[in-house]
Amino acid sequence: MAPTNEYPQLPMIDSQKPQTIRITCAPGLVNYLRCEVEGLGYTVSSSRPTGIEIKASMHDAMRLNLFLRTAFNVLVLIDKFKCANPDELYKRVRALPWEEIISPDEYLSVVSSVNTPSINDWRFASLKVKDAIVDRVSAAVGSRPNSGPERENLVVQLYWNGDNAQLFLNTSGRKLADRNYRKMPYKAPMQETLAASVILATEYDGAVPLVNPMCGSGTLAIEAALIASGRPPGLLRANFGFMHTKDFDSETWQSMRRSAKKIRNKGVIAPIIATDVDEGAIHAARKNAETAGVHHMIQFDVCDFEETPIPPEKGIVIINPEYGERLGVFAELETTYKRMGDFFKKKCQGWTGYIFTGNFDLAKKVRLRVSRRMEFFNAKIDCRLLKYELYEGTRREQD
Ligand SMILES: C[S@@+](CC[C@H](N)C(=O)[O-])C[C@H]1O[C@@H](n2cnc3c(N)ncnc32)[C@H](O)[C@@H]1O
Repeated sequence: MAPTNEYPQLPMIDSQKPQTIRITCAPGLVNYLRCEVEGLGYTVSSSRPTGIEIKASMHDAMRLNLFLRTAFNVLVLIDKFKCANPDELYKRVRALPWEEIISPDEYLSVVSSVNTPSINDWRFASLKVKDAIVDRVSAAVGSRPNSGPERENLVVQLYWNGDNAQLFLNTSGRKLADRNYRKMPYKAPMQETLAASVILATEYDGAVPLVNPMCGSGTLAIEAALIASGRPPGLLRANFGFMHTKDFDSETWQSMRRSAKKIRNKGVIAPIIATDVDEGAIHAARKNAETAGVHHMIQFDVCDFEETPIPPEKGIVIINPEYGERLGVFAELETTYKRMGDFFKKKCQGWTGYIFTGNFDLAKKVRLRVSRRMEFFNAKIDCRLLKYELYEGTRREQD
């Protein structure tokens, strides 16, 4: 339906009725997100580099928050309208029946993404939306919700592009990448949604061993264990944005959680081994795995990556070495990457090897034939997941 400037009088969110849901993700992850969303039975109606849209209900939004491994936020469209300037924005937002969504005892946070000539600071747009909501609630019920930057309660998100404004309820609140298990991030940890996407890119499902030398704080091994056991990552979090709406359907949510807890991979899960040369990293990784409830599935060891135990059954070996952007020094790393090639060739015959790196010059030092290059971003760094088929006699490439 084309956006209009008529003010809506109807309640904005009906828990069962299909509405537009936008699911956002980090750049580079949209194909993994689309697979997950389709795998959960939804049809993607549109796609962009950092997200997709589907038609689904508020109950579906809750389910998506529980199950998605690669998404940042699940947003439910509240309204879309034409808007030329901040005063129009205020008027239009204030006309919506916010008192039906947010109680005056709640805490509100507004986040904006703005690309329009009438305003050059997204914070001003957020302020206008926040003022409109609290003024509306105050006029309707006599008191106003508190507001601020914390995303622990009700989060409203504005996208304002040219003269098109879209207002969403952010049902996730904090990003879903914050699973709640990484109490000890240690050095240069991978974001959880990126780690889950990398594991999904290897097509790992728990049936074969997974070995992760240089595991750092354990994110790849932990996400692999969650995937292998079929455990939805949302079970690790107690708080989501949707819980702070006035009509939060707690009974449905509890029943979704109970069903999700019963999901178990019925097959035998092959060993997951995670090692790091740094004792502090392994200490952090163990603690994080404990918090995630998967410590019993992962064997941790402190050792140089070359000493990592390799089970006799063939599987997947995945390494996320330092790549000189944040940690490590290039010359030292050259030797490490050369040694990684030797380790793959000598100790991992018959396995499928993967290296996740943001340094393509260093990657050449591995000197093994790459069978596939998959594009990723780690924050703003252009990265690749390089795949190596490590059959006997894997070809060495010249420097
Ligand atoms: C980029 S970090 C890995 C981050 C990890 N993916 C995470 O999410 O926390 C690289 C790790 O390699 C480890 N490392 C560096 N040289 C190593 C070596 N020779 N043997 C084993 N681990 C090594 C470092 O201690 C560091 O924890």
